[in-house]
Amino acid sequence: MSRDIDEYLYEKIVPYREERREKCMEDRKTYDGVFDKRTLLAFYKLLKRGTIEIVEFPISTGKEGDVFRGIGKNGYIAIKVYRMSTANYRGLSRFIDGDDRFAHIHKTKDTIILVWARKEYRNLEDYVRAGVRVPAPIDRWKNIIVMEYIGDETRPAPLLKTVMENLKKDIVYDIIEEMRKMYKAKLIHGDLSEYNILVWDNLPWIIDVGQAVPLTHPLAYKLLARDIKNMCRVFKKLGVEMTPKDLASEIGVI
Ligand SMILES: Nc1ncnc2c1ncn2[C@@H]1O[C@H](COP(=O)(O)OP(=O)(O)O)[C@@H](O)[C@H]1O
Ligand SMILES: [Mg+2]
Repeated sequence: MSRDIDEYLYEKIVPYREERREKCMEDRKTYDGVFDKRTLLAFYKLLKRGTIEIVEFPISTGKEGDVFRGIGKNGYIAIKVYRMSTANYRGLSRFIDGDDRFAHIHKTKDTIILVWARKEYRNLEDYVRAGVRVPAPIDRWKNIIVMEYIGDETRPAPLLKTVMENLKKDIVYDIIEEMRKMYKAKLIHGDLSEYNILVWDNLPWIIDVGQAVPLTHPLAYKLLARDIKNMCRVFKKLGVEMTPKDLASEIGVI
């Protein structure tokens, strides 16, 4: 990477400045941060394209990647960056193999995370088309997904998990409505829980859709059953008791 590009990225990606400083202080030659060379070049592409104007700060850091708030063409954006180095090939392959939308995609240990990012983006597109309340996808390149940011200038939307106590029961029926739309779209979320639903203006936003699979996928019904069971547990905490069978019937499965 040329020095010019590095300077440019240093200017545009605020968290990168921190990471680079830490790297110098610790005097390490390599580090396991998210800003490896390939990722920085992917950022460069999205910055030059105008999708991203500035990367402000991390909203969340996870084991598979980080989510940053940034500024794009029309205001705030959420930027999800998958870590290139720690992809679990077998773990991720289970959700890609058997998905007709990705039947002819070549993947290796080195590129699986790129396929995964593509899949998450495609799932967002398919959910938006089906009217599911998910962050609208904006752009993607390599291991970076840019999407609508849920929240405002003071804070990102909180997780359902953290606001559960203060919510009215109504949210349960709003979540069921989203589950109904996801099922109708024949795309099973597969990791639905209080950790992957944001709440903003008392409405649920479904996030983290990388693992979602079409109903024709061999794991689909197993994942659907698990989602239903998980959500029954969450609904109970929110004051609404229903059996998995009731919920399956509510969302149109049986
Ligand atoms: N579009 C978004 N707007 C606001 N916050 C988001 C958005 N997408 C993700 N987040 C935040 O980032 C966290 C991690 O995102 P998620 O997609 O669940 O990735 P993972 O769980 O795989 O790390 C979420 O729990 C949420 O707090
Ligand atoms: Mg998550």
